[in-house]
Amino acid sequence: MPDAFPLCNSRDLQNGADAVPFDVVYAGQTCRAFAVRFEGQVHAYLNRCTHVAMEMDYQPNRFFDDSGRWLLCATHGAAYQPDTGTCAGGPCRGGLVRVNLTETDGVVYWHTAHNLTRTEF
Ligand code: FES
Repeated sequence: MPDAFPLCNSRDLQNGADAVPFDVVYAGQTCRAFAVRFEGQVHAYLNRCTHVAMEMDYQPNRFFDDSGRWLLCATHGAAYQPDTGTCAGGPCRGGLVRVNLTETDGVVYWHTAHNLTRTEF
């Protein structure tokens, strides 16, 4: 059974605005991840471009382009769909790795998966 962990308050995520970062362990490695809101729904992905495995934000927690329509990689401009993580243009090779989120009573939770666990504190 996946576990759920509180990530942030719902109001911390606004449509097309700054992301909330968090750490996960993906396939045994600690990785940065980020959560955003797009068209009312919350989404989270590993902060790892599929072109070169680099973090994508050009300023801390800034992933959206000016239109709030795409998630961009700062390095070579790969564009991803905010609601699916699918590659929408640029040099990406496939889509972003998704982290499942749920939102209940004003709190956003992230969920572990078979290759996605929590960091040990
Ligand atoms: S590393 Fe992201 S587009 Fe090249």
